[in-house]
Amino acid sequence: MTSSSAAATAFTDLHDRAPEGVWSAPGRVNLIGEHTDYNDGYVLPFALPHRLAAAGSARDDDLLTVASVGSDGKLQHAEPVRIEELTPGAGVADLGWAAYPAGVAWALREQGFDRGADLVLAGDVPTGAGLSSSAALECAVALALLGLAGQDEPDEAARVEIARWAQRAENEFVGVPTGVLDQTASMCCVDGHALFLDVRSGQAEQVPFDAAAAGLRILVIDTRVKHAHSESGYGDRRKGTERAADLLGIKALRDIEAGQLDTSLAKLPEELRPLVRHVVTENERVLRTVDLLRAGRLADLGPLLDASHESLRTDYRVSATELDLAAESARAAGALGARMTGGGFGGSAIALVRETDQAAVESAVATAFEREGLRRPRMFVGIPSAGAGLDESWAG
Ligand code: GLA
Repeated sequence: MTSSSAAATAFTDLHDRAPEGVWSAPGRVNLIGEHTDYNDGYVLPFALPHRLAAAGSARDDDLLTVASVGSDGKLQHAEPVRIEELTPGAGVADLGWAAYPAGVAWALREQGFDRGADLVLAGDVPTGAGLSSSAALECAVALALLGLAGQDEPDEAARVEIARWAQRAENEFVGVPTGVLDQTASMCCVDGHALFLDVRSGQAEQVPFDAAAAGLRILVIDTRVKHAHSESGYGDRRKGTERAADLLGIKALRDIEAGQLDTSLAKLPEELRPLVRHVVTENERVLRTVDLLRAGRLADLGPLLDASHESLRTDYRVSATELDLAAESARAAGALGARMTGGGFGGSAIALVRETDQAAVESAVATAFEREGLRRPRMFVGIPSAGAGLDESWAG
């Protein structure tokens, strides 16, 4: 059963009527461009086939009711909220996962959309795996609330804007200081492409990315580990890069050209230099990756993926032993390149593998984890898939 049909079925069971519509949004993998988004830089994600669906109907009042189909198939009900009364910070900690849909309703209210709705959510985006299950939830809920308020399916420019509203929900309402990578990937990616996004300008380019046609695969390795300090670690790195930009008198680290890196580093205190070096070199790696994709040279991406991982491990220090193990064991078994993806401190790695080596790489990674007494990672092929949208088969 797809996430959309699971959400629609659960909605019908709960409300004794079919939903008016079902909207869904995907998780993502970031091919390269990590921790560059909140530095006004470049990112290159693609959407996964895994999606979070929101089945919904509009209400005549401003009440938002949300229920979610849990992994055990049972419905979990969020406390209904009055959209009018939503305030960031006020009791958000008590809401748990329900803070995300409530945050989106708040962010949309700030844009003038305050119509209540009944929503039922279902999805298969792995949670806590660094594959953006929260962004998928935010984007599906945003599209559902907008659609139920009578808004047309958004065009490209509107999608970039909705991603920013979803980010605002996460930053200001839920209180997690993430960038806009995940939400933009979920809203804007298209099938068979990676999304080359310039975060500063919001300009997005769809770059064809068909690994399968080149006899290659992107293997996603979910380590199933999430370290407790992931949020504080993320926030500290973010603050460090903002402080560096302040000290250099620039708006964001994006403003440092690769050729000026050494001069810029020399002006900074020791502890900030590795952070800046990562961001500046990572932006360069994104540009080089895009060039290779445009030239159809997918098999040559490996060294850039490896260099990105190394930079995140030693300079940005957001990797984890499990992510290093995933990348190293994949490479040792023939992967052309491998790196952690997403925020780090656990979550997932990706490996570029030849189709013919996929089974060997998977088994080598599993063996390496077993040898270390770690849980077997969840592995699957990341296929560039569609971004968020209305599921036509359920359109009312
Ligand atoms: C998380 C955040 C993103 C981005 C990545 C690191 O996924 O949500 O905004 O900063 O980490 O690239």
